[in-house]
Amino acid sequence: MINNDLNTFLLNQGVSEKLLDEVKKFKDFYDLDTSIENRVPILKYKYYGAKTWEKAISAILDGNHILLSGPKATGKNVLSENLAALFGRPLWTISLNVSSDSSSLIGSDTFRNNEVVLKKGPVYQAAEYGGFAVFDEINMAKNESLSVVYSALDFRRVLDVPGYDKLDLHEATRFIGTMNYGYIGTRELNEALVSRFMIVDVPTIVENDLKTILTENFTLKTEYVDLFTKLFLDLQSKSLNSEISSKSVDLRGLFASIGSMKKGLSIYDSLDMGIVDKSFDAYEKEIVGDVIKTLFSPKLKSEDLFER
Ligand SMILES: Nc1ncnc2c1ncn2[C@@H]1O[C@H](COP(=O)(O)OP(=O)(O)OP(=O)(O)O)[C@@H](O)[C@H]1O
Ligand SMILES: [Mg+2]
Repeated sequence: MINNDLNTFLLNQGVSEKLLDEVKKFKDFYDLDTSIENRVPILKYKYYGAKTWEKAISAILDGNHILLSGPKATGKNVLSENLAALFGRPLWTISLNVSSDSSSLIGSDTFRNNEVVLKKGPVYQAAEYGGFAVFDEINMAKNESLSVVYSALDFRRVLDVPGYDKLDLHEATRFIGTMNYGYIGTRELNEALVSRFMIVDVPTIVENDLKTILTENFTLKTEYVDLFTKLFLDLQSKSLNSEISSKSVDLRGLFASIGSMKKGLSIYDSLDMGIVDKSFDAYEKEIVGDVIKTLFSPKLKSEDLFER
């Protein structure tokens, strides 16, 4: 998608025109170094969800950093990219894990021309160029390793790198944390960190938006757009009722399954890979498999699903 279409898309979604006007002012006001122009994302997917958009946009306009918190595959990374594209800022994404430390965030010493210099890490570059930096899966990191960015995240807006000059953040710099509650390996974020973000709750997709995404990304016949939507919503409600875990409620998996069907693999085999076998519990697989069988007849072939 051409990023210029994003504005029209958001207006159609119902995002406030006033907010979008302010975004335009922001974009016109802050320059962009040509050397990092290629870091402004070119979007493959649009994020659907007007309320979430409005929360994120207003927080960013007001100078805040945001923490996107929500279940898996709700589009947190898609939204992060969309935000950078909308504001026209370069994006750095840092995947956090237990061994993330200050050098992977800010940078480390390196030798150049017999001199020790800083090899700038993603946080440093985002700070310098007015970029958006995503702390992806922020609750996978150890709390201590993030303390080096506290001063950047609060009103001080400064990176203090031991042994080097301190760096004031470019005015356009914003940090975006993403987190998924309850994934294995996640930690409780400490209050000092959470307090430095505005929290944007990212909900699971609503029926109409899901239908639109399926229609736009696959050449499915309308009746099957409806059926896949029903499949996803049925699994989701079973999970909310604690009949199954959330493992099979996987939009990413559903999209990938439809992709396999498009390549010609059978509907059941495709859904096994993307949905059913995401769970390793025999009883749960059976429930999920039953939901699929009630919606998709065994006689239905993959090629029947798509417009030619
Ligand atoms: N509201 C939405 N708008 C657009 N795409 C969505 C939305 N919700 C889910 N998706 C789709 O879900 C898939 C996963 O998106 P993404 O990787 O951004 O999710 P995530 O929230 O970061 O997941 P995780 O927590 O597992 O990292 C993508 O294919 C994306 O297009
Ligand atoms: Mg993600």
